[in-house]
Amino acid sequence: MTTFDRYTQLKQELSFHLYRYHVLDDPIISDAEYDKLWNEFKALEAEHPEWISPDSPSQRAGTVVSEKFEKVRHPRPILSLANAFGAEDARAWYERIRKLDDRVERAKFTVEPKIDGLSVVLHYRDGVFVQGATRGDGEIGEDITANLRTVRTIPLRIPVDGEKWKAENEQPAGQLSLFDASTNSQSPLPNTLVIRGEIFIANRDFDALNQKLADAGEKTYLNPRNTAAGSLRQLDPAITATRPLTILVYQVVYFENPLSPRERAGVRDFSPPTSQWELLNWLKDLGFPVTDVARRFDTLEEAISYTETWDKGRDNLPYEADGMVIKLDDLTLAAELGFVGKDPRGAIAFKFPAREVTTQLLNIDVEVGRTGVLTPRAALEPVEINGVIVKNATLHNFDYIAEKDIRIGDRVLVKRAGEVIPYVIGPVVDVRNGAEQSYLPPQTCPACGQPVEHFEGEVAWYCVNAACPAQLVRNVEHFVSKGAMDINGLGIKIVEQLIAEGLVRDVADLYTLEKPQLLALEGFADKKADNLLAAIATTKAQPLNRLIAALGIHGVGEVAAGDLAKHFGNLDSLAQASATDLQAIEGFGPNTAESIVDWFSREANRRLLEKLKAAGVWPQGSNQLSVISNQALAGLTFVVTGTLPTLSREGVKEFIEQHGGKVTDSVSKKTSYLVLGENPGSKHDKALALGIPILDEAGLKSLAKA
Ligand code: IVH
Repeated sequence: MTTFDRYTQLKQELSFHLYRYHVLDDPIISDAEYDKLWNEFKALEAEHPEWISPDSPSQRAGTVVSEKFEKVRHPRPILSLANAFGAEDARAWYERIRKLDDRVERAKFTVEPKIDGLSVVLHYRDGVFVQGATRGDGEIGEDITANLRTVRTIPLRIPVDGEKWKAENEQPAGQLSLFDASTNSQSPLPNTLVIRGEIFIANRDFDALNQKLADAGEKTYLNPRNTAAGSLRQLDPAITATRPLTILVYQVVYFENPLSPRERAGVRDFSPPTSQWELLNWLKDLGFPVTDVARRFDTLEEAISYTETWDKGRDNLPYEADGMVIKLDDLTLAAELGFVGKDPRGAIAFKFPAREVTTQLLNIDVEVGRTGVLTPRAALEPVEINGVIVKNATLHNFDYIAEKDIRIGDRVLVKRAGEVIPYVIGPVVDVRNGAEQSYLPPQTCPACGQPVEHFEGEVAWYCVNAACPAQLVRNVEHFVSKGAMDINGLGIKIVEQLIAEGLVRDVADLYTLEKPQLLALEGFADKKADNLLAAIATTKAQPLNRLIAALGIHGVGEVAAGDLAKHFGNLDSLAQASATDLQAIEGFGPNTAESIVDWFSREANRRLLEKLKAAGVWPQGSNQLSVISNQALAGLTFVVTGTLPTLSREGVKEFIEQHGGKVTDSVSKKTSYLVLGENPGSKHDKALALGIPILDEAGLKSLAKA
């Protein structure tokens, strides 16, 4: 194989694995394996920059846009939607179009969520993503190609001839045929596909982003939609790349393919289907993310009742949706019905009721976070927002209160949106009566009374007292969390119980808990106590990077912890490190270095480390995969189902990978073992049907000789 062939192969493999990871959420290789491919690929690109084309996965964070975005004309108008506020409006819409065309009587309907994001238009030429634009006024938008390239769920290349992605688990590495390269960019014929989708930030990603910002003392974002909008308008795509943007697509705006090479060869034509339902599947087969909430119905009434189900269940959607879109499934009929103004007749937006209300701001409470950040929280006159009683809402930070001039006693506008924490939008100034009181941030910590501090360049105020009791709960919560020590079954309720009973005064105390102490707690029986103690004990073997991350040092997240573990190999050396030593590590600036030195210099923290060491929580060596040399599970593929007694979902995956094994999501003939826990799913049945050997957690551990 020539180096160029190898390069092309790597490009295809990497695109495939990125798709498995980001779009399907189901990777089939480990991060380490991926990194290996990526490094090889990057080395080839460094040697041969002339090979780099816009669809290379290395081109996602492209070049900075000079001053403003260029204008682009859309190939067809990007239409809007008329609204229906309830079933009666939807029925009236149906009557109107039925009168225009009696084919409507036999029509089917496809219902999709109406995502509250930003409409974008993506252009693919000969299968390559060449341009992306905002909706603008529907005729002319702005060219935000560089920013859209950073969105990992937007494919940079799609098959031009309708061949499906080979997404099966069984696909052997090295033979990934994502599409037939020979019919691709070499094609002399114009082959243009322009599609439309909605860019957004999922609720969970939004909360995680804000949590990270809050912990670092930085300004948090107000809501997912504005954050997504702001991210798309960045002139530097490197900034956009740091925001967790994603997309769902739903429409073909324009298509042009006079005669594809395949068609000339007598193979089925590559044209989009004329049914909305089939179109969604077609887009999915091309590698685009499409909603999995869409359904097709034979009657409008079924479509309405499906919509109403999601109105009630909208909190279960992973993103903000302001309604459902009911579309005529027959796109030819829909097109023939035409439009009124900018609204096509063939579809209607069935809006959910708004989730903004006004209520009285009774007080401003201050909470103390894990890193000591003080966050103001609104205590509200309880108010119902679509079925949920809201009593508290976030006020972001003290600057926000000042900027919006929010006063205690104000009538405030509050928004509740999905899983996102409710927030105060601002005061209703017109109804003030003069009794409202301006607010001043506290000078001392509300939990321990120590004076608060402010760091240069941050918006937050901190309580820097390590012994502050409010911080302890958050500290322990962080220590046991998934990204840190990952102690399975140790939820916030139990953490609070343990602290309230005085059983845990610092995180090291977790490792000396005894069974009778747990049995004395409310809600603890024999088995629960045993399981918790076993789960805690298991985490003594967690690698060093996790322990470092678990300590909750300001500015040290999972990535930095990994670097520190690799660099120092043990906590003793890390504790000795000077700010200069630390700054010598790539990516460590003076602030982080200072904060690490400061953490290790504190007497309380030194005592904590001694206690952890005495309890046997003292991992050595660099991080993750290299820690364990025993590769007893190499060559074996595992599927896990149900809840295991001590290992969490992530924990068991890591355990298997550390011992050289592979974890996949679905049972097939190639599965070596099914690891079975309590309340298993359908994977259990499938494994039984295929005669796959079954292990419990203990069986897995003995197989790994751990
Ligand atoms: S269809 C002719 N489908 O809602 C097609 N729009 O209020 C018209 N939107 O500007 C759009 N999710 O940005 C459609 N599944 C979906 C959508 C959707 C979100 C947005 C879109 C549009 C706005 C109309």
